[in-house]
Amino acid sequence: MKLLVTGGAGFIGSNFVRYVYKERPDWHITVLDKLTYAGDRKNLEDLDDSRFTFIHGDICDEQTIDKAVADCDAVVHFAAESHVDNSIRGPRLFLDTNIIGTYEVLEAVRKYGKRLHHISTDEVYGDLGLGSTEKFSEKSRYDPRSPYSATKAGSDHLVRSWIHTYGLEATISNCSNNYGPYQHVEKVIPRNITNIILGIKPKLYGEGKNVRDWIHAEDHSSAILAILEDGKLGETYMIGANGELDNKTLIQTILELMGKSPDDFEFVNDRPGHDLRYAIDASKIKNELGWQPKYADFKQGLTQTIEWYKQNEDWWKPQKAETEAKYKELGR
Ligand code: NAD
Ligand code: DAU
Repeated sequence: MKLLVTGGAGFIGSNFVRYVYKERPDWHITVLDKLTYAGDRKNLEDLDDSRFTFIHGDICDEQTIDKAVADCDAVVHFAAESHVDNSIRGPRLFLDTNIIGTYEVLEAVRKYGKRLHHISTDEVYGDLGLGSTEKFSEKSRYDPRSPYSATKAGSDHLVRSWIHTYGLEATISNCSNNYGPYQHVEKVIPRNITNIILGIKPKLYGEGKNVRDWIHAEDHSSAILAILEDGKLGETYMIGANGELDNKTLIQTILELMGKSPDDFEFVNDRPGHDLRYAIDASKIKNELGWQPKYADFKQGLTQTIEWYKQNEDWWKPQKAETEAKYKELGR
């Protein structure tokens, strides 16, 4: 198998590459990544050249993606602008990468008749509202509510239409909030772990009541590999690990695990259009493909993640000041 991974130098893409490298020793993996502020070549530095190739390039560039797809057997497409707050500050780049970039990937895959797995998010289904027990499933209606989720929804619709119209051999997965090592310091868990390390109070948006459904990135990776190998072509799979938690409890848990008072945080401006609750029903992938998450204990996964950020200041420090400067402008 010659596997092409777009966006493989980012948080989840690099986790997937390291996972596949370990689990499938006879596969060759090529990563195509633009190395935006969110991509880091260091995330892949332990991989041996005999089984791994890195291409520095943009998925929006037709010739680059065409050549990379021509040379592989299958594509897993992670590359995206991924941060909601950035999409509110400047949506244009999200349209370019998430929509036009996905279009270029689709056209190359169609031209060469390759297998595609498209990585998407639960945010395309909108907001479940607090106090409900409803969860997103493969049958949920699309209802994106931020520029980020609208462009991810747009990319899903393109993939679905290429499957329907051109018979593309593709699958899609929609996953909940990931956590773990190598996540950029703009996202809530690493932002606030690193704040605490630096003696800054963690920041809680709005009233801190919003609920996210947490899954360890390695469980996301194992689910993607299961879909790539055994998923039914044309189908969508939800990925989640029953990790629902409100943001206030999340921040207080991080504070406690880091030996601080659980009240040592501050409320900051809310995100405009902030979705209240996401939750995933992952029955389909569990029943059809026998997939199960390994990180059942969130506190244990969080403890390991906190430890990683403590041990890897060299990795996150260069990004921290610039990220916080952006948040300062927003009062967050
Ligand atoms: P990330 O921002 O950490 O990484 C994105 C990667 O894509 C980076 O390496 C970046 O350099 C690369 N990239 C961006 N634009 C590119 C372009 N035009 N051409 C080539 N490479 C480009 O993102 P992440 O959190 O790892 O998310 C990866 C994928 O998973 C995204 O599609 C995202 O929508 C999806 N997703 C993320 C989560 C989550 O909780 N983070 C949950 C569900 C789905
Ligand atoms: O649901 C999947 C999505 O999860 C992915 O598609 C996105 O790529 C990923 O970024 C993530 O989106 P969120 O917006 O949920 O993640 P973020 O880490 O930005 O914020 C999580 C929650 O925490 C959200 O309710 C906003 C809040 N928050 C965020 C930050 C950065 C805070 O309260 N304080 C903060 O400092």
